[in-house]
Amino acid sequence: MKKVRIHDKNFQCLLEAARIDAQISRMAGEINRDLAGDNPVFLCVLNGAFMFASDLMKQITLNESEIAFVRIASYAGTTSTGRVDELIGLTAEVAGRTVVIVEDIVDTGRSLRHLQEMLRKAAPKQVKTAALFWKPDALEEAVVVDYKGISLENRFVVGRGLDYDGLGRHLPDLYVLEE
Ligand code: IMP
Ligand code: MG
Repeated sequence: MKKVRIHDKNFQCLLEAARIDAQISRMAGEINRDLAGDNPVFLCVLNGAFMFASDLMKQITLNESEIAFVRIASYAGTTSTGRVDELIGLTAEVAGRTVVIVEDIVDTGRSLRHLQEMLRKAAPKQVKTAALFWKPDALEEAVVVDYKGISLENRFVVGRGLDYDGLGRHLPDLYVLEE
């Protein structure tokens, strides 16, 4: 069993990189099929989604697609603050376009709801959401995720773009906090 220590906490491997990669390929296939002929803007939600967005975009075959970035923060340490801070807002022109929100993980759903509301003001044609991980038991908002990767138990995870206070994002596997 692979283990890592980050700051003051111990984590153990939950999902190997190859299993995550397979799900990203499946999601890319679904998006390519559903949005064939469209010119979507993929909106990568920094910081956590940088690795997922990179892996996903390499498998997108929609030649008119673009990628844009927003940056929000809602976590301090291993818990959600209940607040969503917008650190870099929307700069891309999305009016009349399909937007695909690219998120690392949907936990309470607050970040996603915040983004969906922010986007609605920019009058897109439609908003779709792709989330690599989601924790159904932590969900507090009625948000729709169109493309779901892997469902997780309500436990804190790091790796694959996700951090514990800034560290662990580079890990290709997903690790879970040891009880
Ligand atoms: P939500 O707003 O509660 O849905 O949280 C979404 C954001 O919190 C994600 O985009 C992550 O950046 C962060 N987050 C949620 N759960 C975890 C976790 O288990 N590990 C690391 N970051 C997390
Ligand atoms: Mg984060």
